Amino acid sequence: MELSVHRRWLAAILNLLFLGGVWCDCTEEGLEIEGGEYTLTHGLKLYSTVIYQCKPNFFPYPDQTRQCIRDRWQTVPRSSRNIRQICRLVECPDPTVLKYGSVYPPQDRYFVNTETTYECDSGYRLRGSVKRFCLANGKWNGSTPICSRDDAGNHCPDPGIPPGTFRSGDVFDIDDEVTYNCNNNLMYLVGSRVRTCKEGGEWSGIEPSCFYKYTYDSASDINAEFGGSMKQSLTELQSIDDIQGERKIKITKNGILNMYIAVDISDSLNKDDINKSTVMVQQLIERIASYAVSPNYDILFFTSELKVISNILDFYNSENPKTLENVVNDLKNFKIKDDRATGTDLNKVFKHILERIYIIENTTKSNFEDHYHVLLIFTDGGYNMGGSPLANLQRIKDTIKQEDHLDVYIFAVGAKIYEQDLQPLATDQRGRHFFRILKEDMDTMFDEIVDDDEVVSLCGLHKMSDNSDTKQKIYPWNVKITIQRGLEQSKTCTGAIVSSKFILTAAHCFHGDLPEKIQVDIKHKINEVEKYFIHSQYNVKAKAHLGISEFFDYDIALLQLKKDLNFTIDLKPICIPCTKETTQALRLPLESKCTEQEKLLLKDFNERLHFLTRGDTVQRKDVYAKLGGNREPCINQAKRLPNVTEINLHEVVTDHFLCTGGTSPFVDHIACKGDSGGAVFKDYNQRTIQVGVVSWGTDQLCDDKLGKLVKSNEYSRDFHLNLFKVVDFLHLVMTSNDQNSAPTDFIDN
Ligand SMILES: *[C@@H]1O[C@H](CO)[C@@H](O)[C@H](O)[C@H]1NC(C)=O
Ligand SMILES: *[C@@H]1O[C@H](CO)[C@@H](O)[C@H](O)[C@H]1NC(C)=O
Ligand SMILES: *[C@@H]1O[C@H](CO)[C@@H](O)[C@H](O)[C@H]1NC(C)=O
Ligand SMILES: *[C@@H]1O[C@H](CO)[C@@H](O)[C@H](O)[C@H]1NC(C)=O
Ligand SMILES: *[C@@H]1O[C@H](CO)[C@@H](O)[C@H](O)[C@H]1NC(C)=O
Repeated sequence: MELSVHRRWLAAILNLLFLGGVWCDCTEEGLEIEGGEYTLTHGLKLYSTVIYQCKPNFFPYPDQTRQCIRDRWQTVPRSSRNIRQICRLVECPDPTVLKYGSVYPPQDRYFVNTETTYECDSGYRLRGSVKRFCLANGKWNGSTPICSRDDAGNHCPDPGIPPGTFRSGDVFDIDDEVTYNCNNNLMYLVGSRVRTCKEGGEWSGIEPSCFYKYTYDSASDINAEFGGSMKQSLTELQSIDDIQGERKIKITKNGILNMYIAVDISDSLNKDDINKSTVMVQQLIERIASYAVSPNYDILFFTSELKVISNILDFYNSENPKTLENVVNDLKNFKIKDDRATGTDLNKVFKHILERIYIIENTTKSNFEDHYHVLLIFTDGGYNMGGSPLANLQRIKDTIKQEDHLDVYIFAVGAKIYEQDLQPLATDQRGRHFFRILKEDMDTMFDEIVDDDEVVSLCGLHKMSDNSDTKQKIYPWNVKITIQRGLEQSKTCTGAIVSSKFILTAAHCFHGDLPEKIQVDIKHKINEVEKYFIHSQYNVKAKAHLGISEFFDYDIALLQLKKDLNFTIDLKPICIPCTKETTQALRLPLESKCTEQEKLLLKDFNERLHFLTRGDTVQRKDVYAKLGGNREPCINQAKRLPNVTEINLHEVVTDHFLCTGGTSPFVDHIACKGDSGGAVFKDYNQRTIQVGVVSWGTDQLCDDKLGKLVKSNEYSRDFHLNLFKVVDFLHLVMTSNDQNSAPTDFIDN
């Protein structure tokens, strides 16, 4: 009696507190999970969220998260029962829905690691997997088994009944519909609920799946589904025939791809997760960069406020267009503040994108219909501010008009996901566009979305990341050349792969050496040289009459390999001037002349270029070629050499040389001995184009040390043969000596 009075009194006090808005924080009581762990977003504070984690193969039940509301940890949305949290074994959707066949073992429930086999009744043939395993993410691997009769005479093949679904509709003729639902209200449906048998004998939409709340998409699911559709869009530049009629993202030849990437960083994610997000976005755009299509990017992080990292309109700025490198730097430099706003306002994101699309429409006017728009939204759960984004999504659709020019992908990240809010935002007509991913997978999920094999033959294409193990991937065209000279020490030079047969290097590396004395080291494998070609006008003694003992005009050579190279992601050619491939790499109109490439690559009075040096590892040297009015002061320093005078300067340093070095406007690196013959290159839109060959210099600053990043002094200069001046040589040698492999496609001046 007394106890109950006491309780009532306490309840009254608490009620008073709540009514007055003085809500309390929570305690650790009732937080624990049997067999698992939890993390708290804001400690025990009011509105903090607890996120439950279980070991692999288990999932937190009944809730993945709870929130501190009033003074208790509660299920959101609230439910009457707040039972104890435990880790339960992962279960896969029921496979016994199979029609005209049997599933072994027959069971009521199928838990993780269960192996099932499928068999059809007599007279029926099995399509799909014979064996399937229940995986740790709650999905069956392989594909849906379907038992059908070959002689059924239907217009469309039996679309099957995926595990966990219930299908209505058993007639498969033109315009017939089948409708799917989940056979368990704990599951939700992904994919097409309704499919129609089309004239071509195919079903519209994509196969539906029913998933439990804890089911997530593994990196390999994402590679297969999202990667598949990205790949299709990005290879479309090669204009593949649309046989399937179910193309996912479409890009026509001159189409422009606008990508809008929005990442939720609301307060239920911590700093580590945000780092993962930046790494993930970076990886995604790096992977996409391996295609010839180079999208424009709008990248924003959002909570209830937006933080724009890359403004897509900067890509439309004709004066000073944004580059992908700028975007990557912006991402790397992005820091979150501790006091960022809470809440998730997804509607603000869609409104922002809508505004961007309006402006793009206004600025591009007539060719707006060549613009494709892909929205990638990474969001933690759902949205809790700003209302539903559906109306703004509709406005986006109305603006773009062509349905196949818009794709909205939703990647739901985190423990508590409101798929009923998020799924309608994804455009699910052409392939799956809604994914649930684990936070742990975020930074690696796009690793494999682009198949390396398909892009290896594109010249100058490389990865951007600078881990030591990927150096060869950043400079996959870089080779070491060794010339054996009997008792003399062997000489080393650097070269660049320019086709499957040819290595480009400097003529001065050779002194009448026999081809068998020359070795080309590519990825630590020695390649033999069949023969080599020195520019016919190269003559080191040509200016001896002026007292110039060594003269390097036309210092260029091509080595023809005995065996054609087989390209891989870390062994492939650099782009060279005046070829069709380079026109494409530079995204110039296909009919462009060579001079337009030159104008684009060598336009600034201080043009940033690079070359490589090889010691224990390969390192990049950074220089500025002094062009236009800056060239004369640069080459002037050659007068410090013996017998070079005001009068003969231009005879010694001919117009064929690019001049680098010095300390102005920046301190350049200077070439060392083994760097000779290496490519002087420029990075442009993730592609590398060779514009010169390292030839000679005024000073020896390197003390014979190989592979050192040595800085220039005020006076020292390097001269590199400008490839634009010797295109005829490249053209002649490479086209007349390369019958077997695809010849390099040179264009006119
Ligand atoms: C399914 O997973 C099992 C176990 O990992 C594997 O042995 C099997 O080859 C997989 N089957 C398919 C179709 O991927
Ligand atoms: C993000 O994580 C990567 C690798 O885990 C690390 O190298 C990098 O410094 C981190 N960046 C920030 C801003 O914390
Ligand atoms: C686009 O142009 C129309 C008419 O030219 C104008 O009314 C509208 O405000 C413009 N929108 C934007 C976002 O600039
Ligand atoms: C400079 O020219 C003179 C006369 O031709 C020659 O004797 C001398 O060796 C040259 N100096 C050098 C360093 O080549
Ligand atoms: C390239 O592949 C072909 C066929 O597999 C092989 O014969 C040839 O030796 C390879 N070339 C090199 C340089 O390894």
